[in-house]
Amino acid sequence: MQIKNIQGYEILDSRGNPTTACVVELIDGTKARAYVPSGASTGSHEAVELRDGDKHRYNGLGVLNAVSNINTEIKDNLIGMDAYYQKEIDHRLINLDGTNNKARLGANAILAVSLAVARASAMSQNKELYQYIQEILQLDATLDKSFPQIGFNVLNGGKHADSGLDVQEYMIMPLKNNIEENVRIGSEIYHTLKKILSKNGQVVSVGDEGGFAPRLDSNEEGLSLLVQAISEAGYVPGIDCALALDVAATEFFDSNSQNYTFDKKIYSGAELTSVYQNWLQKYPIVSIEDPFAEDDYDNWKNFQQLMDNKIRIVGDDLLVTNTERIKEAIDQKLCNSVLIKPNQIGTLTETLEAINLAHNNNFSTMISHRSGDTIDTFIADLAVGVSAGYIKSGAPARAERVSKYNRLLEIYYS
Ligand code: PGA
Ligand code: ZN
Repeated sequence: MQIKNIQGYEILDSRGNPTTACVVELIDGTKARAYVPSGASTGSHEAVELRDGDKHRYNGLGVLNAVSNINTEIKDNLIGMDAYYQKEIDHRLINLDGTNNKARLGANAILAVSLAVARASAMSQNKELYQYIQEILQLDATLDKSFPQIGFNVLNGGKHADSGLDVQEYMIMPLKNNIEENVRIGSEIYHTLKKILSKNGQVVSVGDEGGFAPRLDSNEEGLSLLVQAISEAGYVPGIDCALALDVAATEFFDSNSQNYTFDKKIYSGAELTSVYQNWLQKYPIVSIEDPFAEDDYDNWKNFQQLMDNKIRIVGDDLLVTNTERIKEAIDQKLCNSVLIKPNQIGTLTETLEAINLAHNNNFSTMISHRSGDTIDTFIADLAVGVSAGYIKSGAPARAERVSKYNRLLEIYYS
């Protein structure tokens, strides 16, 4: 089905900063749109998010250049192409950009178009988006829908809050195999945690991803609070609900000294490893994302070897949804799980390639939102479409976060 028109425009993300939106229209009259999210603790190897830098608009954060790239060059080259051939559309976009990190047209321009084309194609064929993604992957369409386990981020630290916590995300991960039950458990624990914080005289305002942002004395205190909240909500820690962390360690790594500033002390990678080992003995943690900085390979390798696949060690800033970096992680045994963020790489096709590479090498995948997000629910369909083991989309609160969980429920009932 031929593409008839493409229109990009600027919208606001959940932090109130501009981001790209795109509507794709096909000749059968189908119109679909996509909104692109934006990170705060971005990895340096991510594809480039084009920002205008004009201090007189949005503090330099405008995306009018990216929008204009959609409305001129990209539009001119894609009109008339068959939207059903996602791979060809994405390769046209990649070649048009011509750089290896989408720096010329902007990953925020390219991804908006790539996702809107996929959504329009699904709609035009009367398919749910997750079914269309299954088809692109040539998965057996008779497969049961498989739902990811959810990591709800209920305590926010790092660059996402002023809590003072070094660990960026403390997640609770309900362990039932029913999506509705997991959503309910996540919400109940979140509200129990709020009550505990209030009782302790802590603030219950929230960070960028909807998790609470209390000022705690140490990073470990966050873990004991979560275990308390799970118990007080009536669940058994480690049986009904586990813990997952995104340490986002690149943010507190000093590349000159090769040390980490954690809990206001200086730690070597080996010392930080001991901290994690200690936590793993005391708390039901099933997964740790970015335990070390994005290029600190030695400590990743050592930790993966020590853990011997007993937990998931997830690469986000380390891997940036990039097949080259994922290959390296497989070869060098740096971790065993990949965080998947479509805007780190810039097209749906490359995102699916990253997921395939991971799955074919026994790496699990966790599909992820960004800290600056919108109500776009593409990642929920992506998670079901590729049968990802895990998804994270922040707290079980706030529209841009729950929209993904609610879409999972919608798919469940579809
Ligand atoms: P970001 O954080 O969207 O700010 O990069 C999410 C993450 O690190 O997983
Ligand atoms: Zn992360």
